[in-house]
Amino acid sequence: MEFEKDILCIGAGYVGGPTMAVIADRCPHYRVTVVDIDEDRIRAWNSDRLPIYEPGLDEVVARARGRNLFFSTALEDGIRNSDIIFVSVNTPTKTFGQGAGRAADLQYWEKTARQILRNAESHKIIVEKSTLPVRTAAAMERILNAAPDGPRFDVVSNPEFLAEGTAVRDLESPDRVLVGSRETPEGVQARKAVVEIYANWVSRERILESNIWSSELSKLTANAFLAQRISSINSISALCEKTNAVIDEVAYAIGTDSRIGSKFLKASVGFGGSCFKKDILNLVYICENYGLEEVARYWESVVRINEWQEKRFVRNILSNLFDTVAGKRVALFGFAFKANTGDTRESPAIYVARGLLEERARLVITDPKALGNARAVLADVDGNVSFEEDPYKAAEGAHAIAVLTEWDLYRGLDYERIYRSMVSPAFIFDGRNILDHQKLYEIGFNVFAIGKAPLKHFK
Ligand code: UDX
Ligand code: ADP
Repeated sequence: MEFEKDILCIGAGYVGGPTMAVIADRCPHYRVTVVDIDEDRIRAWNSDRLPIYEPGLDEVVARARGRNLFFSTALEDGIRNSDIIFVSVNTPTKTFGQGAGRAADLQYWEKTARQILRNAESHKIIVEKSTLPVRTAAAMERILNAAPDGPRFDVVSNPEFLAEGTAVRDLESPDRVLVGSRETPEGVQARKAVVEIYANWVSRERILESNIWSSELSKLTANAFLAQRISSINSISALCEKTNAVIDEVAYAIGTDSRIGSKFLKASVGFGGSCFKKDILNLVYICENYGLEEVARYWESVVRINEWQEKRFVRNILSNLFDTVAGKRVALFGFAFKANTGDTRESPAIYVARGLLEERARLVITDPKALGNARAVLADVDGNVSFEEDPYKAAEGAHAIAVLTEWDLYRGLDYERIYRSMVSPAFIFDGRNILDHQKLYEIGFNVFAIGKAPLKHFK
């Protein structure tokens, strides 16, 4: 069959995989190929057990795979045969050299650009899909258009706004799609080609066009604002714990003000995920580079409050377990950075686990989807950590439970049974405020939630 467009995506991760699956599902007249250097990942995309857990994704992939959606490691062929190349390789925070701990590590992006340059034989539109610092598109254009008589490349920025756990829904009915390009005739033409893809299922008013800098900066700013809301409510949660105010009541009361809005006001042990911290630190780094110290410090404080919230949670466990957790069994309910994903990148659970391990606690970690990643993240720890599918078994013989991911599963457990299997006095630290705290207290637990006065059976 002849396809109208040949789309390639380099990088078959949390962004590339679901995005391309939805494009292929919605546009049967395009051929969509996703390539990755990781052979295991590609094998998994071609199997019944996809490499990432995302509600609804199995069905979307099943409809399109083999029809017009292909997963492969054949990068060179993919580049040669495509008109439009989405790049969604990883862009972690740099761990070395200038900007370490803040700037984005662009080595994977640059390698990809050079691979494109080596293999392309005709004009290509390169779409930035990974979160990248502002001005990356310009740097990439310079690399790609370095050879004077090679084919021309137009770089378009099309930031991803999907959230993990709701990726398919976010892709199928996005609040908006943003496409930025240079304002030259070629740039605008490239932008239109990307807009045309989304216009297959997204209404035109929701497809926003802008210049390339606005598009890149909008992604960082959106994530910075979302994270700022969480840090703001988390900062107030600490005050609630000292007074008699209840954070969920405060959040509800302020959220009903339509100017504020009700979303992203859920106090928690802290925000995680691959984007928030990375993007804010990126923003901070850019501001510093432009000499905007005050702006840099302002945004940096969003990350600092988050770290403080995680630290506070560990300190709270320690002080309430009579200042020692050494040798005590503590069950962590959830390890993913949020519910409905197996992703553990930057999960607050990592900080909490390491904090408790430093205090020599014996950890049992349970999670319905993230145990594989949890094992990998804690691979350097020997002895004091074990992994258990069944939350009842995880809690057996434990002094305390810490809820770290808001999985629905944890709301419906039989806490009387759990209480009977634990060491007395038994403690629950609800880092996601998802449990019925009064009921737990009546069962006999000492209950510590975020942003609520503790419910203790002792002074
Ligand atoms: C985020 C953005 O939402 C998305 O638009 C962008 O494309 C990528 O980054 P993601 O990291 O997948 O998505 O998850 P998100 O739902 O934003 O949650 C991030 C973290 O904040 C999670 O750890 C979550 O548990 C926490 N969170 C979220 C809260 O603690 N309270 C809230 O009210 C909302
Ligand atoms: P994200 O959450 O941004 O999607 P992931 O780490 O899940 O990030 O996915 C990025 C993917 O990009 C990984 O599967 C990685 O193997 C792949 N990748 C990195 N560099 C290259 C490259 N040069 N060519 C092809 N794939 C690459």
